[in-house]
This record gives sequence, structure tokens and C-alpha cells, in this order.
Amino acid sequence: MKSNIFLIGFMGAGKSTIARTMRDLYGMSLIEMDEQIEAQESRSISQIFAESGEAYFRSLETALLEGLEQTGNAVVSCGGGAAMRDENVAAMHRSGKIVYLSAAPETIYERVKDFHTRPLLEGHMNVAYIENLMAVRLPHYLKAADFTVETDGRSAEEICAGIVEKMRCDCY
Ligand code: S3P
Repeated sequence: MKSNIFLIGFMGAGKSTIARTMRDLYGMSLIEMDEQIEAQESRSISQIFAESGEAYFRSLETALLEGLEQTGNAVVSCGGGAAMRDENVAAMHRSGKIVYLSAAPETIYERVKDFHTRPLLEGHMNVAYIENLMAVRLPHYLKAADFTVETDGRSAEEICAGIVEKMRCDCY
């Protein structure tokens, strides 16, 4: 089965919003990786990082993605780091298409600055830090993605329509 859509991209790129809109507009089932991991662990992402470390969190992400191979018609909002591991990307490719949602560092900053749920940004909540981390991650996002959709200045509906059009024409 190869019909899932995996939304990858930086924290605050809009993956959760777009995934919810895809569910609402196109009747796909929604999988929010961070929420699923929090429910499974009965603790927040921040607690998992603080108590068990980032490597443990990353292993939960891999297990979740590898467990989705029998799932279909789902839109998966991936954690911002999920596309950094080759085995995660391979698991995503086995069950669906990977869409990179891009956004400028300034846009990301505006979207994330009032939240304290992302351990990697705590104490580094500024555009320069976001820009640097994005530069490290960008090649991985681009390599993993079947195609990219820009999000700056576009509504969730426009972005979803762009995704569906690319999926339909298979032209990426
Ligand atoms: C992370 C992104 C977060 C969450 C965790 C680590 C990352 O998800 O998985 O804090 O490494 O970029 P969002 O991209 O949904 O914020």
C-alpha cells in the first residue's frame, strides 16, 4: 500500500495545520507523530527529551514510521527531525509520498516564538539559530522529498490544493 502523504519540514513550517486541513478537505486519516508519541509515552515531548534523551525520542519516531507500512490514506504530520534519518525516509517512501513544506526562517520564528513545547528551540528562540539549523537540515529535507511546497504567504487551502494537484498529475 503506497498512499500515505508524509509532511516533512522545519518546526513551525505548518505540517500540523496542513495535515488537519488535508483531513478535513479530503477525508484522509490524520497521524500527528508528536501527539502519537506523547500519548504512547504518557508524557510530553519536552519531558521525553529531558528524562530519556533525544536519542530515545528519535528511536520512537523510527518505530512509529516503520509501523505505518500497513496504513493507507493517511496524512502524517512528521516531527521536524524525522527526515534526518535515512531509515525513516526509507520507511516513508515504502508507504507513500513525501512532501517538504518550506518556510522562511522569519516566518518560522513568528510561528514558533510564543510556544515552549519544542526542546530544540528552548534558549535559542531567534531567527539566526533557526536559520543555522535550517541550513543543516535543508539538504536532508530536499533529498527526502518527492516534491516541495512553499508555505510563505499562502493559505492552508491553497497549500493543500497544490499538494493534491501534484499528487494527481504525478508530475514532480
Ligand atoms: C523536532 C520537532 C518537533 C518535535 C521535537 C523535535 C525537531 O516537531 O518532534 O521537538 O527535531 O525538529 P514539530 O516539527 O512538529 O515542531
